[in-house]
Amino acid sequence: MKSGPLGIFDSGVGGLTVVRAVQDLLPAEDILYLGDTARMPYGSKSPETIRQFADEDARFLLAHGVKGIVVACNTATAHALPSLREKFQLPILGVIEAGVDAALANPQAQRIGIIATRGTIRSHAYQHALALRRTGLLIHAQAAPLLAPLVEEDWIDHPATELILKAYLDPLIEKGIDTLMLACTHYPLLISVLRKLLPEDVFLVDSATTCAEHLQRELTRLDLLAPDSHEGKLEVHLTDLSEEFEVLARRFLRKAPGRIQRAVLGGA
Ligand code: DGL
Repeated sequence: MKSGPLGIFDSGVGGLTVVRAVQDLLPAEDILYLGDTARMPYGSKSPETIRQFADEDARFLLAHGVKGIVVACNTATAHALPSLREKFQLPILGVIEAGVDAALANPQAQRIGIIATRGTIRSHAYQHALALRRTGLLIHAQAAPLLAPLVEEDWIDHPATELILKAYLDPLIEKGIDTLMLACTHYPLLISVLRKLLPEDVFLVDSATTCAEHLQRELTRLDLLAPDSHEGKLEVHLTDLSEEFEVLARRFLRKAPGRIQRAVLGGA
C-alpha cells in the first residue's frame, strides 16, 4: 500500500497548487492527479452536482489503485467530503480541516475572513468548522467568484485584478480581520497582490501549503509514507485536453507537468 500513488483531484488545473506543495514536502510520493477540466468550474454548481462529480472523480482515482485521496478543490471538499468518506474505505483528506487548524494555531486569531467560490461560501463548511473549534470568533465570509478566472487569464498583476480584489477585501478590512483564509485552489497565485492590499499584520492561510502539511502528518500516522529512497513521479489526467490547459498547468505547478493524459470518467 505504501508504494501506491496518492490520488489528488480538483475541478481543473488549480489543484496543481496542492500538488506543488505536496511535491515540495513529500518528494518521494507518486501522485496521480485528476482535473475535471471538462466540467469546471465547480464553484458555481449545486451541492448535488458537485457531490456527483466528486464521486466520479474519486472512483477514477480508486480504479487506478491510489492509497489515499486528497480533495484539492475547496468547493468539492465543502460539499462532498463527508459523503466520499462514507462511501469509500481509504483515507480521504480535504483542504478545510488543515486550513482551519492553521488559522487557529494562532491563539490570538479572533476575526477571520474567508474568500472562496460562491459554492464554498454557501456551504458554510469553513464557517462551521471554525466555529466548532473556537467560540466567539467573528467570521466574515466573502464569495469572490471573479478571482479564479482572473488567475487563469494570468491577470495577476493587472490593474483590473487589483480593483476587483479591493472590492472583495475592503469590507473584510473594515471589519478588522486578523486572518484571511484563501479558500480556493487558485488563490496562492494571488499572494503577492494580496500582501500589497492587506494590512501588514493580517495572517494569510493558504489551503495548498496547509493541506500538504496535514497530508504529511496523516501519512505518517497511518504508516503510509512512500520510502525515502523513492523518487516520486507525477501523472496528470484531465477530462478535457486543450493546449490552454498545458500552459495553465505549467503555471500552477511552476514546472512542466509532463505528458497530460485524457481521463474518461464513469467507466470505472
Ligand atoms: N477548484 C475550485 C475551488 O477550489 C475553484 C475553481 C472552480 O470553481 O471549479 O473551489
